[in-house]
Amino acid sequence: MKEFITELSRIEENKPFTAKLSNGSEIVLVRKMDKIYALSAICPHMGGPMGEGEVEGSCITCPWHGWQFDLETGTSLTMPGDDLSTYKTLIEDGKVYIVENQTPN
Ligand code: FES
Repeated sequence: MKEFITELSRIEENKPFTAKLSNGSEIVLVRKMDKIYALSAICPHMGGPMGEGEVEGSCITCPWHGWQFDLETGTSLTMPGDDLSTYKTLIEDGKVYIVENQTPN
């Protein structure tokens, strides 16, 4: 699997970027310098839009009830076990791709 998502230049540092995969899954990309993290865009609590969440340090906070998740692993810092799925990303020639679903939550 290697799916083109967007140009790297369209993603602002620390500002969640929401996209849809060809299989219908909504994902959120977060840029930290030249690294891109990709997670499910649907909060496991009550389906809140993670793309509207706040990024601070190494975590992203759901805008609805404040659950926090680790950007790299998707682990819920609020309710361990209720995690976000994560995706492996690849940056090639200024383009961002998803290459693998790392955790099938
Ligand atoms: S829906 Fe995300 S914290 Fe409640």
